[in-house]
Amino acid sequence: MNRTDLLADHDRGGLLLISWLNISLLDRELLARKRGCLMKTGIVDLRSDTQTLPTQEMIQAMANAELGDDVCREDPTVRQLEELAASVVGKEAALFVPSGTMGNLIAMKVHTNPGEGIILERDSHIYYYEAGGLCAICGLTPSLIQGRYGVIDANDIEKVIRPTNIHFPPTTLLCYENTHNRAGGTVVSVEMSKKIYDTAKCHSLAVHLDGARIFNAAASQGVDPKALSAHADSVMFCLSKGLSAPVGSMLTGTETFIEQARHVRKMLGGGMRQAGVLAAAGIVAIIKMRHRLQEDHETAGLLAKQLSGMPGISIDLASVQTNIVNVSVDTDIVPLDVFSAKLRSLGVLVSARPPRAVRMVTHRHVTKDDVRKVVDAVYSVMSECN
Ligand SMILES: Cc1ncc(COP(=O)(O)O)c(C=O)c1O
Repeated sequence: MNRTDLLADHDRGGLLLISWLNISLLDRELLARKRGCLMKTGIVDLRSDTQTLPTQEMIQAMANAELGDDVCREDPTVRQLEELAASVVGKEAALFVPSGTMGNLIAMKVHTNPGEGIILERDSHIYYYEAGGLCAICGLTPSLIQGRYGVIDANDIEKVIRPTNIHFPPTTLLCYENTHNRAGGTVVSVEMSKKIYDTAKCHSLAVHLDGARIFNAAASQGVDPKALSAHADSVMFCLSKGLSAPVGSMLTGTETFIEQARHVRKMLGGGMRQAGVLAAAGIVAIIKMRHRLQEDHETAGLLAKQLSGMPGISIDLASVQTNIVNVSVDTDIVPLDVFSAKLRSLGVLVSARPPRAVRMVTHRHVTKDDVRKVVDAVYSVMSECN
C-alpha cells in the first residue's frame, strides 16, 4: 500500500492502526493533519507560512457560512469579506481572488496595456516566482532595480524609466513588495513607501503593492496597515499565509479599479461560485489572526540568533525582520540537497534556496520550543559532515 492509498484509506476510516505502524513520521503528520487535529508528532515544518491550517473557528465559520453565487455577486459572505478587506487597508473596494499570484496578475492587467513597461525589484515575487505571467499574459517588458534588502531606492526609479521614444516600451506601472519574500521577509518603511510612490507619480506611473504579507510588515513596524497601503493605488494581500486561511487573497483599490479587476478575474477563470465557504475563513483570518503575527517574528528572531555563528552556517541578522530566516550553508562542508535531506530525516522541513541557502519560515504551528529542536538538528547535521 503506498502513501496515497494510506491517506485515502484513512479517509474511509479503514486500516489505520495497521498502517500506522508501517509509516514514517512525516506520513503520520500528514494523516494527523488530514484529520484536522494537528496532533503534534514532532515535525517542524519551516518550508512556508502557507503550510498553516485553518483554525477551529475558521472551520466552524466555513460550515455555517451563508452562500450564494459570487459571480452574480450574490454571496453575502464574500461581500462581507470584501468590505472588511477594503476597510482594513483603507481602500474603497476589494475583490476575493483564489491566489496572490492571480491578484498580482489582475492588478498588472488592469493598470497596463500589452506592450508597455513595468518596473520591479530584481528578486520580486512577481518577476521571480509567478511563472512569467507579466510577460505571457500581460505582455509587459520588465525593467529591474536591484533593491537593498529587497527595498527599491526611489532614486533608482528614474534611472530605469526610458524616455518617450519610438524604440522603447512606455513605462506605466511600478510594483513593489512588502514584506519582501526572497530578501528574507524584509520590510519597506512608511517613509520609503512614500518616497517610492511619490517618485512613481512624478512619472505618471500606476503603483501596485504586492503586500502578500502586509500585516507582517505592519506588525513589525508597529504601524496601521493603512499607513503602508496608502502609498499604492492597488494592494494585494494574502489570507492563506501567516493568517492561516486555507485559500485566497484580496485585491484592493478604487471602486473603478475593482470593477475592472472583477472582469479580468472572470476572463482568467477566477470567478468562483459559492465562494463564501472560503471567504468565511478569510473573515476570521483578518479579524483574529493578524494580531498574533508578532509572535512569529519573535520565533524567527530567536531561531536566527541561535543558528547564527554555528560552524558552516551564516545568517545576515539585519535581514531577519519578520517571519523569514534565510540561512546560508557552507556547501563545501555539506551540499545543499544533503543538508535539506538530513534535516528532513530529523523531522525539520526547510525549502532550498540554491545555490547556498535554505529558507525557514515561522508561523502558527512553530512554537518557541520547536526552535531548540531545529537548532539541535542543524548542529547535528553540520557536526556529522564536518
Ligand atoms: C510576496 C509574495 N507575493 C505573492 C505570492 C503569491 O501568492 P500565492 O502563492 O497565493 O499565489 C507570494 C507567495 O508566497 C509571495 O510571497
